[in-house]
Parts: sequence; C-alpha cells; structure tokens
Amino acid sequence: MGEGNGLPRRIRGLAGFCYNRSPMRARKARKADLPRIVELSRSLGLDYPGMEEDGLWVAEDDGGRVVGAVALKKHADCLELCALGVEPAGRGRGTAKALVEALMAEAPGPVHLATVIPGFFEACGFRAIDRDIPASFPAKRATSWCDGCDRSRCTIMLRTVS
Ligand SMILES: CC(C)(COP(=O)(O)OP(=O)(O)OC[C@H]1O[C@@H](n2cnc3c(N)ncnc32)[C@H](O)[C@@H]1OP(=O)(O)O)[C@@H](O)C(=O)NCCC(=O)NCCS
Repeated sequence: MGEGNGLPRRIRGLAGFCYNRSPMRARKARKADLPRIVELSRSLGLDYPGMEEDGLWVAEDDGGRVVGAVALKKHADCLELCALGVEPAGRGRGTAKALVEALMAEAPGPVHLATVIPGFFEACGFRAIDRDIPASFPAKRATSWCDGCDRSRCTIMLRTVS
C-alpha cells in the first residue's frame, strides 16, 4: 500500500497536481454525447425535460471522457444558458469557464441566465440585471424548474455578444 507506481511520494504528488491542472477541451456536443450529458447533469441535479433538444456543449479530458456540460435554451423571448455543471473531480481547472466561452462563441445573441452563484458568472463577463428581465424567467420560476434552489438567492444575469 502507498507504493503507487514506484515513484517517490513527493514526485507522484507533483505529477498528480500537474495532471489535475491540465486543461479540458470544450466543444459542441455530438449526438453520441447525449447519454453521458444526461447522466452527468442528473447526478448534479441540473437535468430538465427537453434538455436533449437544446444546444449543448461538453468539456472532455485528455482521454475524451465528458466531465462537464452546459446548455443553451432558446425561449420565445431570449436565449438562456443553463445546466452548467462539472463533475466534482474535474473542478477548479477552468473547465466551467471554458464551457461558457465555447457556448458564447456560438450564441446568436445576448445570453441570459439565472443563478445562485453570480460571482462565478461575473468572472465570465455576465452582469446582474434587475430590469428588462425576459418574461420567461418569472414564468419559469413559477414551475418546478427551480425546485431545490433557494429562490431568494437567484440572480438574473446578462452577457451581450461582442
Ligand atoms: C460552478 C461550477 C460549474 C464551476 O466549475 P469549475 O470547472 O470548477 O469552474 P472553473 O474552474 O472554470 O472556475 C473559474 C473561476 O470561477 C471561480 N468559481 C468556481 N466556482 C465558483 C463559485 N461557486 N462561486 C464563485 N466563483 C466560483 C473559480 O475560483 C475560478 O476563478 P479563477 O479563474 O479566478 O481561478 C461547478 O462547481 C459545478 O458544477 N457546481 C455544481 C453545479 C452548479 O452549481 N452549477 C451552476 C448552477 S447556476
């Protein structure tokens, strides 16, 4: 036990750190990714009915394993970024940020979102808004979509495309 691959523990620790910081690749999802996206999103409590029909992006590790995903939903009155999630072991490596940038690079217009972690999305170029909120958001909040989230901490945000 504890001998690992034969390298001294200190070196193995360093190798592990390097591996854990290696960047993820974010790309548009393919049809074959759908089962994994649904599985991942469900495990994080982020899945929703009809998710498969929305625009989807994934982040994969060096081995091509999907470790994160995000969705772009087209409402009648706006575009919404939703279901951003990264599996716990892959966090803290810029994966979510890369997913947001991949989505924004292809978004055909301004993107709204509702979140309980506005600090993260501010760092991604979104700003909180308290007016001109698309009707879809209050309407959505009246449904079970937001169950499990603290509605009082929900912030509506917007990022325009450059
Ligand atoms: C939130 C989440 C997507 C972040 O994923 P991640 O891959 O670890 O994020 P990143 O590594 O890209 O972080 C980018 C930056 O945001 C910061 N950040 C990460 N999570 C944050 C949070 N919850 N609140 C504020 N800032 C956060 C990081 O510190 C990092 O800052 P830096 O660039 O200065 O180092 C991930 O923790 C997750 O899947 N959480 C559960 C699902 C969830 O809450 N989704 C959002 C629903 S609205």
